[in-house]
Amino acid sequence: MKVLVIGGGAREHALCRSLSLDPDVTALHCAPGNAGTAEVATPHPVDALDGAAVAALAADELGLTGADLVIVGPEAPLVAGVADAVRERGIPVFGPSAEAAELEGSKAFAKDVMAAAGVPTARSYVCTTAEEIDEALDAFGAPYVVKDDGLAAGKGVVVTGDLAAAREHALACGRVVIEEFLDGPEVSLFAVTDGETVVPLQPAQDFKRAYDGDEGPNTGGMGAYSPLPWADPKLVDEVQATVLQPTVDELRRRGTPFSGLLYAGLAITSRGVRVIEFNARFGDPETQAVLARLKTPLAGLLRAAATGQLATFPPLRWSDGAAVTVVIASQGYPASPRTGDPVEGLEAVAEQDAPEAYVLHAGTRLDEAGRVLSAGGRVLSVTATGADLAQARERAYQAVGRISLAGSHHRGDIAQRAAEAAE
Ligand code: AMP
Ligand code: GLY
Repeated sequence: MKVLVIGGGAREHALCRSLSLDPDVTALHCAPGNAGTAEVATPHPVDALDGAAVAALAADELGLTGADLVIVGPEAPLVAGVADAVRERGIPVFGPSAEAAELEGSKAFAKDVMAAAGVPTARSYVCTTAEEIDEALDAFGAPYVVKDDGLAAGKGVVVTGDLAAAREHALACGRVVIEEFLDGPEVSLFAVTDGETVVPLQPAQDFKRAYDGDEGPNTGGMGAYSPLPWADPKLVDEVQATVLQPTVDELRRRGTPFSGLLYAGLAITSRGVRVIEFNARFGDPETQAVLARLKTPLAGLLRAAATGQLATFPPLRWSDGAAVTVVIASQGYPASPRTGDPVEGLEAVAEQDAPEAYVLHAGTRLDEAGRVLSAGGRVLSVTATGADLAQARERAYQAVGRISLAGSHHRGDIAQRAAEAAE
C-alpha cells in the first residue's frame, strides 16, 4: 500500500512512524513533513492547505497508480476541503469532508449537532452582540468559559474568573460561544469511523497548561499518557454509546457523513461525562501515546475507514503496557516561540534509549549542513513505552534529559499523579 500523510507536526511523525512499521505499507510519503518524518517518509514540499496540489501529488506524482491511502493530519486542511479534493480524484482518504469537519471548525455547529443527537455537553449560548454576551456571562457566572466560534489554533478558548477579561475576549471574537464551566478531569477519546461504524481507540490524557502543576497559559498540549488507570473501565463503552455513535449517526442523517478521526474532548464531571469539544483529527500530543500502544497495523485500519469497511474490521489489539509523551517546547512558547536553535542529543536517544523511547519531531527543520533546528513552538515529542506508567515516565524523562535545545522548557509532571495513584 502506498500511503501519503499530509501535515508536518509530531502527530504526523507518530503516524508516519506507525505506518513505517506496518508490513502492508510499501511506500510512505509526507507533505510537507518535518526533519523527523523525513527519516521514514519521502518528503514533498507541498502546501498542506492547497487541495489541488495535494490531490495532484496523490494522484499523479506518487508512481503510475497514485496513492492507495491519503491521511490528512491537521484540522486546517480538513476545514479547507483538502480531503474532498483528494476524494474527488477517486483516492481513499482518511479525513472528513469540509462540511463534516465543521464539527471542529465551528463550535456553534458542534453544539447544534450535539443538541440534535442528545449528546451531553456544557449548556451554552451562541452570542454575536455585546448585550447577548453580557446576558450569557451573567447567566452562568464565574468561572467564565468563552470560546471563539471558529478555528483559532488553540487560542480561541478563555477560561477565567475575571469578568472583564472574559468580556474582552468575547467582544474580540465576533461570533462566540459562552458556556457553563465543567469541573472534573479531562479525557481525550479518539474514534476511527467510516461514517457509520465507530471504532474507539484507548483513552488518553493531555496536559494543556504550559507549566508544572497546571500553571501558566494554555498550550496545544505539553504531554500525554495512556492508558488511564484511574478511569472507569466502562468509560469507553459509555462514550461510544452516548457521544460517538450518536454524533456520527446525526452527521450521516444530515447528509454530511463524518469519516476519519472523531476526537471527543471530555470532562468527567460529578454529574457524568460531558463533551468539552470535538476535533476532526487525531489529537497532538495524545496520538503519540495512543499509537505507541496500538498493535493492530495502522494502514489497514485507516484504509478500512476511508473505504467504508470498518463493520467487518477485526477488533483492535493493544499492548497491556503504558506510554508517556513529553513535549519539549521552544523558549517563549506559547506566547512568542523562538526558532532557529540547534537540537542536540537526538543520536544519543536513538543509540541508548530506543526502541522503548524515541523522539518524534514537531517544529523542526534541517539546515544546509543537515543539522536539526527548532522551527516552531512545540519542537519535539519524546515518547516512551513501559510495563506501566511509572516505567514509561522514567524512560521518557531519561531521554528528555539527553536532549538540549537552548532556552527550551518542558513539564516535569506528565503522568506523575496517574503513575503514583496506580502504585
Ligand atoms: P478547547 O479548545 O475547547 O479544548 O478548550 C481548551 C481547554 O479549555 C480545554 O481543554 C479545557 O481545559 C478548557 N475548557 C473548555 N471548555 C471548558 C468548560 N466548559 N469548562 C471548563 N473548562 C473548559
Ligand atoms: N491536544 C489537544 C488537541 O490536539 O487539540
